[in-house]
Amino acid sequence: MQGRFHLYEGYDFLDITYPIRVMHMLGISKLFISNAAGAINLDFQKGDMMLIEDHINLQGGSPLAFKNVAEFGSRFVDMSEPYNKEMRQKLMNISKEQGISLKCGVYASVVGPQLETKAEYRMLKILGADAVGMSTVPEVIVANHLELPIVAVSVLTDECDPDHLEPVNIAEIIAIAEATEPKMVKLFRELIKQL
Ligand code: HPA
Repeated sequence: MQGRFHLYEGYDFLDITYPIRVMHMLGISKLFISNAAGAINLDFQKGDMMLIEDHINLQGGSPLAFKNVAEFGSRFVDMSEPYNKEMRQKLMNISKEQGISLKCGVYASVVGPQLETKAEYRMLKILGADAVGMSTVPEVIVANHLELPIVAVSVLTDECDPDHLEPVNIAEIIAIAEATEPKMVKLFRELIKQL
């Protein structure tokens, strides 16, 4: 996909995840996801990439909360391992072989579009998040419902240090995301070769 739909644009959970169901019906067998996120873990820096190991859904809803969900998969979807372990391991190995730094951590999803307050960044850290962003989790829930193996990587575009928080610079966030893209493409290309 070139881009995606977000809750903050006014789309609902079903709109956002519609393309995942369409791609599933077209026959895809695996799902790769990328996103931009803020670094809650202060050992991570702007421009780092983070392999998502697990997530925290703070978007206040679910794309599976509708009447006939059982036609697509089971009603109560297991989320004990939402990100495919084998692909994660492969991606970590590839990053080492290629000398591309890849952190690992927990992604928390919020609605946005406003960035977080200092108090919210503190809360996210206490909750166990390493990164925060405004996407991905609805798609991952639906892909788990469809039993599609998933691998997801965040580009960390800003450092969310509540004690030294600077006003958000959207131009810089976009520039960092663009500058990191070739490294992410390299990792994903190599992973495709190994699957
Ligand atoms: N918060 C939420 N979403 C984001 C951020 C952030 O700090 N950076 C990039 N996407």
